[in-house]
Amino acid sequence: MIPFLDLKQINAPHQQALEEAVQRVVRSGWYILGHELSAFEDNFAKYCGASHCVGVANGLEALQLILQAYDFPRGSEVIVPANTYIASVLSVNFLDLVPVWVEPDPTTLLIDPTQVEEKITNKTKAILAVHLYGRSCDMSALRTITQRHDLKLMTDAAQAHGARHQGQRDKMLGDAAAFSFYPTKNLGALGDAGAVVTSDATLAEKIRYLRNYGSLQKYVNDYQGINSRLDEIQAAVLNVKLPYLDAENERRRQLARLYLNGITLPSLVLPPADQIEDDAWHLFVVRHPHREAFVAYLSEKGIQTNVHYPLPIHKQKAYQRYHDVSLPVTEQIHREVISLPLNTVLTDEQSAYIIESINQFA
Ligand SMILES: Cc1ncc(COP(=O)(O)O)c(C=O)c1O
Repeated sequence: MIPFLDLKQINAPHQQALEEAVQRVVRSGWYILGHELSAFEDNFAKYCGASHCVGVANGLEALQLILQAYDFPRGSEVIVPANTYIASVLSVNFLDLVPVWVEPDPTTLLIDPTQVEEKITNKTKAILAVHLYGRSCDMSALRTITQRHDLKLMTDAAQAHGARHQGQRDKMLGDAAAFSFYPTKNLGALGDAGAVVTSDATLAEKIRYLRNYGSLQKYVNDYQGINSRLDEIQAAVLNVKLPYLDAENERRRQLARLYLNGITLPSLVLPPADQIEDDAWHLFVVRHPHREAFVAYLSEKGIQTNVHYPLPIHKQKAYQRYHDVSLPVTEQIHREVISLPLNTVLTDEQSAYIIESINQFA
């Protein structure tokens, strides 16, 4: 069986360094807000081409903390893509803000900038662009809109560590970017972790307060914050893995190229290849009109796949109030998408076998 993702194997090349890093923290006696975290924050800010990184507990809270720091009035609207992971939208609801759905471009499956402006009202405060599957949204088009309407442009970069827009990493961040280091991500911790990356010094400082009960000084609380700190063990793990991120993304890119050049099955829609160098290739998402049959066939061939995601957010039980909303492009995408195995330990031989099997699907 070719597994979709085997985290044990993926972390195996780093195992010794990870164990040493964890041991170093255990022995240090300092577990929260210490040197490992400040080193990671410096390293990751530099890597992203931004001035600040604030480590937080996970990607969802990174999004929430950006919105809390902006302090938009209750009931303000945030433009969100309808095709995303539920965390993007939960963050908006948790701050008593209103998500305003925008359908994806049917080719990129990312927020369609040409449909954004018609959704802007006098209550709109921000656009939340999600770089889903590792591909950067059209940040230039979105920036033109946010400038015209004086809105914030925030990004959900949970799936896009190392992605670029027009060749530059800093151009995919927007005003503030939320990252997740959930273990399956391109840069994955050994537990939950996240970060906000921004070049807005005021915003970064406010998030530093908010992640720690609103405090930068022991028992002095300037804001009603939350507890969302990235702990020293996870920061140490991320310090071990960050230097390998570019090489690992390059391997993902090679595999994506093999798929894009090798798969010829006419009924299968491949992801666009126009940003192959800029894309972080977190997921390789294809579409087939007969998904169940295609997935069952690959499974018989010993190829494990995944679906990101099977049910749109507005159709989830958690969001019954949106069940009547019609988002036909998003709904069709959710019926058809399949994620093929693409990870740093997949071999050329395995990818050749996957390509050959797909091309033989009748
Ligand atoms: C697009 C997207 N946004 C947000 C998140 C939330 O990240 P976390 O699981 O670290 O809270 C994830 C990952 O799970 C994600 O894929």
